[in-house]
Amino acid sequence: MPNYDKDLARWMPRLIAVWRKARRGTAGGPPDRLTPQELREVAAGVRTLSLGLTRERRLAGARYMDDPKLLGAYLLFYWPVSYAQARQVLGELPRRPRQALDLGAGPGPVAFAALDAGAVEVTAADRSRPALELATKLAAEAGEALATRSWDPLSKASIPDGTFDLITLGHVLNELYGMDDAALKKRADLVEQLLARLKPGGTVVILEPALRDTSRQLLRVRDLLVDRGYTVRAPCLFRGHCPALARESDWCHAEREWTMPRAVEELARTAQLHKESLKMSYLALAPKGEAWRAPPEGRVLRIVSEPLEGKGRQRFMACGPEGRVGLALQEKHRTAKNAAFFHLRRGDVIRIGATEEKGDGFALRPDSEVKVIAPAGKGLPEPWESP
Ligand SMILES: C[S@@+](CC[C@H](N)C(=O)[O-])C[C@H]1O[C@@H](n2cnc3c(N)ncnc32)[C@H](O)[C@@H]1O
Repeated sequence: MPNYDKDLARWMPRLIAVWRKARRGTAGGPPDRLTPQELREVAAGVRTLSLGLTRERRLAGARYMDDPKLLGAYLLFYWPVSYAQARQVLGELPRRPRQALDLGAGPGPVAFAALDAGAVEVTAADRSRPALELATKLAAEAGEALATRSWDPLSKASIPDGTFDLITLGHVLNELYGMDDAALKKRADLVEQLLARLKPGGTVVILEPALRDTSRQLLRVRDLLVDRGYTVRAPCLFRGHCPALARESDWCHAEREWTMPRAVEELARTAQLHKESLKMSYLALAPKGEAWRAPPEGRVLRIVSEPLEGKGRQRFMACGPEGRVGLALQEKHRTAKNAAFFHLRRGDVIRIGATEEKGDGFALRPDSEVKVIAPAGKGLPEPWESP
């Protein structure tokens, strides 16, 4: 596991110090955790944000970052989550970005993740001035250089000049252009403008909440862009329209393990929220003209569900160049060759040997070899290795 967790642990005292200074002009208090009174105060803001951004969605697109209490709650609770998510996804990219632009940056978790992932020039852009000011204070606290710009695609404040190796949209696309279907085309148009600002080999990375609706909307934006000739670097191995959209009840999201910082854990507990694993939906897109990578040889699939246990068998949903399929292996058919199947995690890319078509996909047999070719969160090896 790369050092994301250690990097995040270094950020926590900076987040707390900057928050304390902004709140009461002094940095006094334990450096890496909140006092009980601070916890209660911030947890109230976390609850408001959680309800407004995930359950009721009343705050999506509203100016919550301009409210100091909610901005503080975002900084201490959601910032570490977005940072960890971004580090995971950036770790999958085939090359290290140098120039990066983070749009809808808020107080900058994704921008700082890009810096920590090796970017040397990062611009954070948002319409919220207080959020960008906080990002600037964090940069000073960390001794990092971060440029900030005002940006609002709804009021035509244009995309900052230049071309980039990486353009990120962290949990912002779902807040743009309203909530109806017409918003999807506008979101795709915006992403297309951003793709035109990439240097060759660059990537647009979009992170969204792992909710059913926001994930499905992201998949529909993906399909619009695929129709316009763009290709997906990650996570999709399937080149056509996303098969998870075929059934209303399906969606696709990622889940990663992480070490939740203690202050975040205490806030989750005080706000009575459950946040153990890191869940998100994401998409990494390549600029126009870049072809899909040739599929690796053999039957290669990404695991896209949690383990689905059935009577005497293990099941997963998986998605690969042939589409979305069910995979099942009966306990009684477990052998040394296929034992890895019982330990798979959402996001792993596997190669499987001999299978039989069964139900919605394939049944594995005692002689079906199962090999993890890229564990969740790791990009596929370059070039894809042969079987
Ligand atoms: C959920 S926060 C995400 C912050 C950060 N990118 C992250 O991943 O944690 C959404 C951000 O989008 C910004 N935003 C929402 N609507 C916007 C708009 N029309 N123009 C610019 N920024 C916008 C908000 O100000 C806020 O900072």
